Amino acid sequence: MVFINLRWSSNMHLIQLVYASRLVGDESVLHSIHSHAVRNNTAHVITGKLLYCSGRFLQVLEGEPAQVHRTFEHIKADPRHSDVTLLMEQAISERAYAHWNMGFRHVQEQELEQYPAYKAYFKDDFSALQIQPLIALEIINTFV
Ligand SMILES: Cc1cc2nc3c(=O)[nH]c(=O)nc-3n(C[C@H](O)[C@H](O)[C@H](O)COP(=O)(O)O)c2cc1C
Repeated sequence: MVFINLRWSSNMHLIQLVYASRLVGDESVLHSIHSHAVRNNTAHVITGKLLYCSGRFLQVLEGEPAQVHRTFEHIKADPRHSDVTLLMEQAISERAYAHWNMGFRHVQEQELEQYPAYKAYFKDDFSALQIQPLIALEIINTFV
């Protein structure tokens, strides 16, 4: 059923949206955030990936514009994170993450040791506004 929906949506206008945010509270909410995202995104034919590391989220969402915008409005209003900063929104001709209703990875801080260039992005004092969108996508794709 999902497969049929994805095929259908591949002929439609699609967008991809990338944002960064900061976790509010403790990491015990991560599992619930992910399972709700998978359930809702399957229903709304939204695909993408979510990365969490050291208090910061990076997420890429893709799908039909109205669905992505609606989901992003819900996400922005979610009290489990703050400083939700839109990094990029672009039209795409096909999905990059067609098989992921929401891939998720909790990246441990130690894993960043192998990627010194990425470490600064997860420091407390690093503003999301300084994150280059393509670097954000690169980080997501490296780990998730
Ligand atoms: C970092 C983060 C990522 C999220 N990603 C998604 C997502 O991809 N899709 C989604 O529907 N909800 C996502 N949510 C949850 C939404 O903010 C919101 O709780 C949910 O859409 C409400 O759905 P419900 O009314 O079915 O409970 C995310 C929340 C957070 C904090």
